[in-house]
Amino acid sequence: MFSSSSLLLAQLSLLSAVLASSVTCNSPIPSSQYLHDIPSWQSQNFSCTGSPAIHTIRNSLGKGLGVFATRAIEPGMVIFHEAPAILIHPPEFRDGVGYPLSGIAQLIQSAFDALSADRKAEVMSLTAHYTSAEKASPNRDELVPIFRSNAYNSGQQIGLYPKIARINHGCRPNTSYLWNARLGKQVVYASRRIEEGEELSISYIPLLHTHEEREKRLDQYGFKCTCEACALEKDEKDASDQRRKDIRQAFTDFNSHLTLTVPQSKSGKKRAQEKADASLQLVKIVEEEELADYYAQIYRIAAISHAKVEAWPAAAQFALKSYQIYLMADEQSEQTIEMQMLTSSFIESWNNHLRNKAMQKD
Ligand SMILES: *[C@@H]1O[C@H](CO)[C@@H](O)[C@H](O)[C@H]1NC(C)=O
Ligand SMILES: *[C@@H]1O[C@H](CO)[C@@H](O)[C@H](O)[C@H]1NC(C)=O
Ligand SMILES: [Zn+2]
Repeated sequence: MFSSSSLLLAQLSLLSAVLASSVTCNSPIPSSQYLHDIPSWQSQNFSCTGSPAIHTIRNSLGKGLGVFATRAIEPGMVIFHEAPAILIHPPEFRDGVGYPLSGIAQLIQSAFDALSADRKAEVMSLTAHYTSAEKASPNRDELVPIFRSNAYNSGQQIGLYPKIARINHGCRPNTSYLWNARLGKQVVYASRRIEEGEELSISYIPLLHTHEEREKRLDQYGFKCTCEACALEKDEKDASDQRRKDIRQAFTDFNSHLTLTVPQSKSGKKRAQEKADASLQLVKIVEEEELADYYAQIYRIAAISHAKVEAWPAAAQFALKSYQIYLMADEQSEQTIEMQMLTSSFIESWNNHLRNKAMQKD
């Protein structure tokens, strides 16, 4: 017991030390055809560049263009990062309704006007879905529908990324994105293993909804999703729907409980243990549903929940897993730093615990 846990502990400390000092991405050197991309990346001293050589844009059956892997890509590998062509501070967000588009049309237009001719053409080449009112309008505006159909949240802002826009939607996507505020870039990474030749998918919508609810949301993009999650047989689809509902509920339940204080009372300890158990259940269903977009968040929840019951090995391992995901996008983001601190603090508590135990034996 003792020796195996200290071995694991040693491995963990080593791993976290290595991780803190450097990020390795296993990306090949970009091939010469992409050389023009390199200077801007290097000038940012971004330690994890990924490479445009690992993906290509081509036709995807029935979906217009799509992005495909040109080699196998491991989970956690950065595929590329991209600065927005247009980035705006939206007015107030109204939950469930989205952004009031009339208010932001002007913002989009002035950002667009400032672009170079090439960049403008790149933006205008993106596909848009028009509302019926827009379709009926004789001199309809193209830019706002393009923006609406392709933009991504970028911290507190919304951005249009011409390259990311080429990745088609999936409700169990194999890539995900994190906003790097320091570089002002969106980092696209593989959240699951992607085989050579396989298409990349990314989510356009919040994924913790049933198939029917997702279909409604995707209406505004003008397509019916046929991804592997949407194509499931009824029984499996019901199970998937239930998991997504349960995950959403669990996120709500955990929100108010995430402090690090270890409870002292008997009832407090009991509640904390129930929470730790619930966090394992949350990890289990998110992994079962393979919703990798949420892995960083659930590992963080599990780490803190286990720290509250002083289950240090589990706390440290979950914290490290969450850290590894955030680290990919940005070594210096708040989340990365938080998870790095939690990982080392939990490892330290674990060390102390083992030391005390050894002393008691003497
Ligand atoms: C990048 O690194 C070089 C050398 O380490 C340094 O001189 C430069 O200031 C860095 N640039 C940025 C944008 O951090
Ligand atoms: C990646 O996404 C594509 C497109 O939705 C899908 O065909 C493929 O099965 C996915 N691969 C993995 C490993 O999830
Ligand atoms: Zn789908």
